[in-house]
Amino acid sequence: MRKQAATATNLCVDNRSTNHPYYFKNFMTFSPIRWQNNSLELLDQRILPHKEKWIKYSNPIKAAEAITNMVVRGAPAIGITASYVMALSALQHKNKTNIKNLIFANLQIIKKSRPTAYNLFWALSQYQKLIDENNFNFADYLYLAKKIHKQDIENNIKMGDFGNEYIKDNDGILTHCNAGALATGGYGTALGVIRAAHRDKKIKKVYADETRPWLQGTRLTAWELLKDNISTTIITDSSAAVLMAQNKIQWVVVGADRITANGDVINKIGTYSLAILANFHKIGFMVVAPTSTIDKNIKKGEDIIIEHRHKNEVLFLNEQNLAPDKADAINQVFDTTPANLISVIITEKKAIENPNFKKINGL
Ligand code: MRU
Repeated sequence: MRKQAATATNLCVDNRSTNHPYYFKNFMTFSPIRWQNNSLELLDQRILPHKEKWIKYSNPIKAAEAITNMVVRGAPAIGITASYVMALSALQHKNKTNIKNLIFANLQIIKKSRPTAYNLFWALSQYQKLIDENNFNFADYLYLAKKIHKQDIENNIKMGDFGNEYIKDNDGILTHCNAGALATGGYGTALGVIRAAHRDKKIKKVYADETRPWLQGTRLTAWELLKDNISTTIITDSSAAVLMAQNKIQWVVVGADRITANGDVINKIGTYSLAILANFHKIGFMVVAPTSTIDKNIKKGEDIIIEHRHKNEVLFLNEQNLAPDKADAINQVFDTTPANLISVIITEKKAIENPNFKKINGL
């Protein structure tokens, strides 16, 4: 018998459910972000899968550092965390005479936590609006954060069902990085499509790219898919071409950090190579992202600031130096996949096949 389809109506992100560590009431997902006793708590994604540890934040600056340091990661999860950090700011500075300056200063700090994920700027622009209205009410800041959080999960559920329509029985799916519950408010974008297709018993196997250097695929995607009993095999990032040639992959399904007005997609480094490979092998290439990831103000992918992180993330593994002492390394974190390599972009509003400026602008 099929499991009951996930619907947005049985979803609950109220005070009762945020007291619960993993599962939303009546709903089969979990969130890596929770608000408890006037503090923000984040599931530490740097040490998953072997340790499940929540870190509690009451100081907004420390919480903003958690974004930079990858305690929490993934574009929608970054935007949601930033919203709760703004709630922490309103709480911290409650009743101070210069509250406007203090909250605005915090917003500027959070804005700099990571440069590429558009959801961060999208969420903060809603807090900028509250600041402009001279509203520094903690309850309103928290309400907005919870609303953004809940909306994100609802969007993921919708996108899961839209994307699932493209998946056929017995399909093999390749995914890159982690675009799952851990990268969002819950359920996931790319992994939301995989969850919906798994619910309908269509998936033969999911191949999870290990995703160097942070190994989001090995550590996070495999962890959350196996928790849901979805058949998953980890592959090295360089194995995709041969698996495609062997006809084992019918769809590449990934998330996005930012989508520009022309439909170019900025996502985890390696996504561009997968799109080229998918096109060469005539395999579908699907990007799943809410409209809060779409930056209509930027025309094309080349105009986006792409994050580069420290070279030691590439050169070291578990604090052990893998390379000769003087070795240099490039650690560009994201790349741009041109719109013409993408079969379909799934948003919560609709699926956009062969994306282009006109179609994105019409959203
Ligand atoms: O560096 P990360 O782990 O934050 O990168 C995450 C990704 O690239 C995801 O694919 C993207 O943010 C979409 S998450 C739904």
